[in-house]
Amino acid sequence: MRKFLLILLLCVGGFAKPNVYILATGGTIAGVAKSNTDKEYKAGTIGVEQLISAVPEIKNLANVKGEQFINIPSTNMNPEIWLNLAKKINTLLNRDDVDGIVVTHGTDTMEETAYFLNLTIKSKKPVVLVGAMRPATAMSADGVLNLYNAVGVASDKNSFARGVMVVMNNEIHQARDVTKTNTSDVATFKSLNFGKIGSVNYAKVEFTSEFNKKHTINSDFDIMKLDKLPQVDIIYAYAGDSDKFIKTAIDSGSKGIILAGMGNGNPSKIVWDALAKASKNAIAVVRSSRVGSGSTSQNSVINDKKFNFITADNLNPQKARVLLMLALSKTQNTNEIQKIFDTH
Ligand code: SIN
Repeated sequence: MRKFLLILLLCVGGFAKPNVYILATGGTIAGVAKSNTDKEYKAGTIGVEQLISAVPEIKNLANVKGEQFINIPSTNMNPEIWLNLAKKINTLLNRDDVDGIVVTHGTDTMEETAYFLNLTIKSKKPVVLVGAMRPATAMSADGVLNLYNAVGVASDKNSFARGVMVVMNNEIHQARDVTKTNTSDVATFKSLNFGKIGSVNYAKVEFTSEFNKKHTINSDFDIMKLDKLPQVDIIYAYAGDSDKFIKTAIDSGSKGIILAGMGNGNPSKIVWDALAKASKNAIAVVRSSRVGSGSTSQNSVINDKKFNFITADNLNPQKARVLLMLALSKTQNTNEIQKIFDTH
């Protein structure tokens, strides 16, 4: 009898559905228009319960609980919200009754939030960000299947220890490399340096590659006691630019500057001089590129050692900003910051 009960318990345990927690933050996935063909819509409108009830099939994949964390267009996302969101997710993932997290999010800054969480979540359990390019009321809205697939990825045992992922348009991307590449196409998210890490087709998950930069439990950061991140600004380089925005950044309290440089992260002469001066005055300067892919190589055209510049590896400027904010919350030493950029 005892043996029978044990087998029964093992069977029930083996078939028990995972518990997935959905944190809704707004975006177009929660957007509403006046009609199903109206281009004008308001992002961050419908609530988490309505999002979940539009995809009743997700209950076959997992026991799903929803919470409205915030309801905003992701253009209004900011570091304070990132810190609160990371703390919330860390607290949830510490619980035995939470097996994975899905964050619904606007697509405009999804890559920044995903990378921030990739660096600050202290768990191997899956965290998946998902959104939509078409509002919930649109003809052929993409959010419904995206959410179904995101819950599928968050419920899959092969999703453990892969860091934070973005699931959109049947593709699984790692947070560090993924970026939005098109203003309106549903296939907008691409990982331009390394490619997607897997596919998800009606919640059937297949991973095709590994990811080996430091993330989640192996990252250098613990934000649980942080309430604020240092100010870091991005300066976009262009033909005929000047040093005026660098001056403004410094005057307004920047502790770090990311150069979205030309080509291999290069500045014009006038910007180069201003960055060298900033670096001398203990402002961390990171060279990244406005090109969109490829890494910014150290000590090539620019002698980074001489100017104490840091290079961004293959992080785009908006991701380099996320990493520099976190790095500066730990150290001001440029050699240590460079090591962080080389490994995260
Ligand atoms: C937003 O980022 O909130 C608006 C755009 C989108 O979600 O696609």
